[in-house]
Amino acid sequence: NPLSFSGVWRFYELLPFAPTNQILTIGEGQTLCQRSDSVAQYVGVKPGNLFLQYEGMNPSGSFKDNGMTAAFTHAQLVGARRAACASTGNTSASLAIYCAATTLMRAIIFIGSGKISYGKLAQALDHGALTLQIAGDFDDALARVQQVAGQLGIYLVNSINPFRLEGQKTIMYRVLEALRWEVPDWIVVPGGNLGNVSAFGKAFIELKELGLIDRVPRLAVINAAGADTFYQLYERQGLRWNGGHFDSQKIDNYYRGLDAGNLRASTLASAIEINRPVNLPKALRALERCGGLVREASDQDILDAKAKVAAGGLGCEPASGASVAGAKKLLQEGIIQPDERVVCILSAHQLKDPTATVAYHSSDAKLFEEVLGSRGVKRAAFANR
Ligand code: F0G
Repeated sequence: NPLSFSGVWRFYELLPFAPTNQILTIGEGQTLCQRSDSVAQYVGVKPGNLFLQYEGMNPSGSFKDNGMTAAFTHAQLVGARRAACASTGNTSASLAIYCAATTLMRAIIFIGSGKISYGKLAQALDHGALTLQIAGDFDDALARVQQVAGQLGIYLVNSINPFRLEGQKTIMYRVLEALRWEVPDWIVVPGGNLGNVSAFGKAFIELKELGLIDRVPRLAVINAAGADTFYQLYERQGLRWNGGHFDSQKIDNYYRGLDAGNLRASTLASAIEINRPVNLPKALRALERCGGLVREASDQDILDAKAKVAAGGLGCEPASGASVAGAKKLLQEGIIQPDERVVCILSAHQLKDPTATVAYHSSDAKLFEEVLGSRGVKRAAFANR
């Protein structure tokens, strides 16, 4: 029964677009919200106040599956036969596994050349997706796939697809369930295309309107410092949702500036190496309604945080480390208080993107130099032993 088998569709009353006999699921969303006192100490909150929402347990190893099951269910309702996405690797892995497992659609994947980790590329290839490398990075790939999918009538599963976000709302339902419906003070989430934060905001707005919670948590989005469009626009330029009357000119000007300087996103947290987040307006809305803010974390801080999480028993990929690095920063700034309850999202599994991790822990100076040297990152110094 999909309604009990799936950690997404258990909440089908809150995903009101599909009849229950049309649901396509492969058992996603059976994930864990785990208290971590070692990470609490690292971040600076009191023991018992830090929780890690570990989405690496999904069938394809990332949070994307929460959204993919919803997109596939919708695709089935509209009779789609082919689906496409641009990806830094996790959306494509998720699309590929859902195509393979459900045989509903054929997968077509656009990736920026040299921009995807081997773990994620292996998933796309092994599950039989048509995988196309295009000249450029993720931002170029997304622009291309939107154009091609529009022209050829291919179902698009990037997070611009609103059904994806419906599914991703359930990550927050499971967090609340784990906390016995006591709303935490903070949700801290890595920001790439800003689908997750948009979905989380929507989840809380709806739950409050339904009277199922009496307050919303604050949302903190953490960009990688080398891919920090949202941080720049929100924190530096003061861009706000303003009840829907946001200054879109500011966004256009910012992108024009990126183009003029040929400025590309660059971070070893390759999953969030994105400069033109498609869900930016929705994310602004989420932050307005949930007292949100944005911070950036350096590659060093991301890798250090990730190693700390792993030393505590949960393995995640670099992008996921951003949430813990960001929480630590917000404690240092005095914005998060030590007695507040904080939930950090670990968006994907450790095995997704192991190259930087191996280099970080390696005593092989040559390997370290090849992978991390040019980024000014220092080695773990075996910090977590
Ligand atoms: N963490 C991981 C592991 C991701 O793969 C992504 C996004 C994010 C965080 C950011 O989430 O886009 O909702 O803000 N990965 C996309 C992909 C872009 O193509 O797999 P977001």
